[in-house]
Amino acid sequence: MSKVKLTINGTQVSGREGMTILEVAQENGIDIPTLCYSPDLRPIGACRICVVEVEGSRLLVGSCHTPIAPEMVIQTHSPRVLEARKVILELLFGSHCGSCMLCNKANVCNLRSIAADLEVGLPRFQLRKRFHPIEDVSPYVQRDLTKCVLCWRCIRACQEIAKQSVYATGYRGFDSKVIVDCDVPLDKEVCRDCGICITYCPTGALTRPTKLGKEKPGKSLVITK
Ligand code: SF4
Ligand code: SF4
Ligand code: FES
Repeated sequence: MSKVKLTINGTQVSGREGMTILEVAQENGIDIPTLCYSPDLRPIGACRICVVEVEGSRLLVGSCHTPIAPEMVIQTHSPRVLEARKVILELLFGSHCGSCMLCNKANVCNLRSIAADLEVGLPRFQLRKRFHPIEDVSPYVQRDLTKCVLCWRCIRACQEIAKQSVYATGYRGFDSKVIVDCDVPLDKEVCRDCGICITYCPTGALTRPTKLGKEKPGKSLVITK
């Protein structure tokens, strides 16, 4: 595979043909936030949180699915990029229930840690919350779609890794959601209980059914000031 030379944040780096901007950045110790991306899954560019600035391109590009090209000049943390990431997060939080204090995955939630890194607080936009009842019919997977960011990781993980096709997307626009069949609760007949979708869900939307008050997994939040 031939080498490709490019510049990221003013430093010349090289990658291999076929690599994405995100992969080259990661190889060079540059941290770009991601939500819908996973190295194990087909990239779909759904969330846009990984956007970067590429010289000559009018629009910001998704780094997780854009292949590198020779002589590319990329900025991963320019003011324009950081502002775009903040707006994307604020839009996600605009419809999110915001019950992080009570969430079982709070300490391992990607959405929450990216928001902390980017210092995103209350959205500057008018809020329109999307509430769905918690689905706890399945003994294996509890679904709280109020916390879903529509990253499709559960859909892809179930298809590509678990080799099942339990999930799909349904409805349009603001009403879009991850559904099972014709939007019926997930039940144990269709699910293999592998737990793979829970592992890949970057938020608290998918969890193992647990009892209230059980200790949360992951690193506890430490407030320094
Ligand atoms: S537990 Fe496994 S089979 Fe069931 S929905 Fe999740 S990924 Fe699919
Ligand atoms: S349930 Fe989780 S993994 Fe599935 S689309 Fe929503 S946030 Fe992504
Ligand atoms: S992580 Fe790249 S578009 Fe979601």
